[in-house]
Amino acid sequence: MDAVTLLNWYDAHARAMPWRVPPRSNHRADPYFVWLSEVMLQQTTVAAVKDYFVKFTTRWPSVHDLAAAADEDVMAAWAGLGYYARARNLLKCARVVADAGGTFPDTEEGLLTLPGIGPYTAAAIASIAFDLPAVVLDGNVERVMARRHAVLDPLPDSKETLRALAARHTPTIRPGDYAQAVMDLGATICTPRNPACGICPWMSECEGRMAGLAAELPRKRPK
Ligand code: ADE
Repeated sequence: MDAVTLLNWYDAHARAMPWRVPPRSNHRADPYFVWLSEVMLQQTTVAAVKDYFVKFTTRWPSVHDLAAAADEDVMAAWAGLGYYARARNLLKCARVVADAGGTFPDTEEGLLTLPGIGPYTAAAIASIAFDLPAVVLDGNVERVMARRHAVLDPLPDSKETLRALAARHTPTIRPGDYAQAVMDLGATICTPRNPACGICPWMSECEGRMAGLAAELPRKRPK
């Protein structure tokens, strides 16, 4: 199965990140860490987020610590990450979760009720923190799916097609690792330009590569 090929690749090549639990380590990811990292990553690159994530979790190691922080301390610590509405929602969310006993909801629906958590972030947390087969779909995943299945329709028309393909690929075993594996594939191999198809774990099933089109996909509808 496709997902197993990708999971085997992830076991060998997962990028180390301060919020990640290495694959096959028998530790569960801390939902607080997963939530904090996903909110930080909403509009910011992995490279820029790493130091902020370490700073936040060193200073506020649990959701209770963050909930009890002074607003101005959190806003000051956030400075440089941009999109300050995220920081305000971060605090609101921490306080809601802390008031409810400190446990994050463990379903997409429950997560969606929290401030600052939209469909993408709810799916990412459900998947990575709770190992639920949620469909995690961002620009990276759309690109991987468009290439894997040679979807020629341009974005945004192809969005629903790409979502359906992403859903079909999402496994019930290790869905959290799978979601992060697709993210890593999109960031390191199936890159927007000059994809490294020659070392891709999906090279032999990728219809885009076989059609010689991988680098051109996904197409975008002219505005
Ligand atoms: N982008 C958003 N979430 C991510 C994650 N968990 N790992 C890598 N890149 C990401």
